[in-house]
Amino acid sequence: DPTLVPDLQAVLRDVPDFPKPGIVFKDITPVLANPRLFGRVVNAMSAPFRGQHITKVVGVESRGFLLGAPIALALDAGFVPARKPGKLPHRRIIERYSLEYGADGVEMHEDAILQGERVLIVDDVLATGGTADATARLVQRLGGQLVGFSFLMTLDFLEGPKRLGPDKVTSLLSL
Ligand code: PRP
Ligand code: MG
Repeated sequence: DPTLVPDLQAVLRDVPDFPKPGIVFKDITPVLANPRLFGRVVNAMSAPFRGQHITKVVGVESRGFLLGAPIALALDAGFVPARKPGKLPHRRIIERYSLEYGADGVEMHEDAILQGERVLIVDDVLATGGTADATARLVQRLGGQLVGFSFLMTLDFLEGPKRLGPDKVTSLLSL
């Protein structure tokens, strides 16, 4: 899909000073609103992991849900939500992290991933990598085998790939 990158660049919106001064928010809603483009994104984010026997795709609340659920279906894998603290109803485990703007945590149901399952973590943006790294720790604590991460875009200057292990990170766009 050679025109995917320019097609994405044409619609992704930069919103300066959101949610805090100095942060440039990357708004993916115009991608989601276009069914052709949304489908191409799901296909391209899944492609590197086809044939890798992924059994669970973890999507990180909230924007990672939007991409992770269709990618799970595309890979014929189950979907697992990694949620902000206090949202999951069943027994859960938590990992804390510091964000590009603020601090937070992420939780997963303790039975969401079984020992030895092959796991892909999906999110829209890789910034500092704090969110993805905490999610990876949850997967590892449950005995999952982390196959990789799939992001729509990576903010390279924040060195997220270095933190996560560059060999494990795939991304459609690097900014
Ligand atoms: C954003 C983005 C990633 C994370 C990346 O989510 O969607 O999940 O930050 O930052 P990091 O690599 O520095 O951890 P946010 O926490 O803003 O929440 P949202 O997805 O609910 O909008
Ligand atoms: Mg997010």
